[in-house]
Amino acid sequence: MAVDAGYMPEETAKSFMERYQGMFVSMPPETVLRKVLIDSGLVSMQLMLVARAKGYDTLPMGGFDQVTFVEAFDIPERYSPVMLIAIGKAAKPGHPTVRLPIEDVAFFNEMPKA
Ligand SMILES: Cc1cc2nc3c(=O)[nH]c(=O)nc-3n(C[C@H](O)[C@H](O)[C@H](O)COP(=O)(O)O)c2cc1C
Repeated sequence: MAVDAGYMPEETAKSFMERYQGMFVSMPPETVLRKVLIDSGLVSMQLMLVARAKGYDTLPMGGFDQVTFVEAFDIPERYSPVMLIAIGKAAKPGHPTVRLPIEDVAFFNEMPKA
C-alpha cells in the first residue's frame, strides 16, 4: 500500500517483506506472542480513543475465560485472545475515578533504582 501511495520505493518494500517474514518465521512463539501483546495494547488504546472521539464509551476486560471465549466464538488457532472491549453508549455516566500522579508512573531523564 505504501508503494502504491508513492511513499516507498518498491525495492524497499520487497526488502522489508523478506526481512520481516524471515524474522517472524524463525522467532520462538513466546517472542511472537510478546510482540502481539504489545501491539494489541497499542491498538486497543487507540480503538478506545477513537470510539470516545466518535461519542462511544468503551470498557476493556482482561478477566475472561480465554478457553471458553475461543470455543464460543470459534476463534481460529492463529489468533490469541488479548482482551475484550465493550463499545457502546453508556446507559449512565461512569463513576468518578482518580488517577495516580504523573510523577508516580512516568520518569523523565532518570530511572529510579527501586
Ligand atoms: C487491560 C484492562 C483490562 C481490564 N479488565 C477488566 C476486567 O476483566 N474486569 C473488570 O471489571 N474491569 C477490568 N478493567 C477495568 C475497567 O475496564 C475500567 O478500566 C475501570 O472500571 C475504570 O475504572 P477507573 O477509571 O477507576 O480505572 C480492565 C482495565 C484494563 C485497562
